[in-house]
Amino acid sequence: MQRLRPALCLPAVVLLGASSASEAASFDAAGEPYRIARDGTVDWATFEGYRRFNGNCETCHGFDGLGSAFAPSLVESLQRMSHDQFIAIVMHGKQDVNAAQSLKMPAYDTNPNVMCYIEDIYAYLKARADGVLGRGRPRKHEPKPAAATRAEDACMR
Ligand code: HEC
Repeated sequence: MQRLRPALCLPAVVLLGASSASEAASFDAAGEPYRIARDGTVDWATFEGYRRFNGNCETCHGFDGLGSAFAPSLVESLQRMSHDQFIAIVMHGKQDVNAAQSLKMPAYDTNPNVMCYIEDIYAYLKARADGVLGRGRPRKHEPKPAAATRAEDACMR
């Protein structure tokens, strides 16, 4: 299979590897894509994911990913969906053919504002789905790692 574009865009794992201050007291033990310190400080990827989710997905998927009349709760979806399923749906879209309504998940594979941050959005939503990140804007976040800036520049170019 052809290498997917987000793979070029430095996955959150790499970004996480490049930090950070609050590694010791955090939720990342099980190899999760997010890291949340006991005082609520989130890693950069999770914070960026929060922002990108709000900029691109929240209109349909609701505040804090909790769903709306237009689209399902991703906080629930990510409790059962794999990382790869998530990426595939965001890239290629989805439409339930049996649905009486014609609501449709758009395909974002050509949208750099989403694809360059797809792992960040995943990290944010996974933290929400796992119940370790509450509603609203994370109060504190780690500084942006230099690796994240480089990845962003390369991806958005
Ligand atoms: C224009 C409205 C709209 C926008 C914007 C939108 N979605 Fe969706 N999304 C939908 C609809 C509607 C569905 C349900 C599709 C179906 O099941 O037929 C959906 C489904 C999904 C699913 C699958 C959920 C499941 O349980 O099967 C994922 C994952 C998803 N969206 C992620 C995202 C992400 C991430 C973004 C932002 C980058 C986004 N969506 C933006 C409308 C939208």
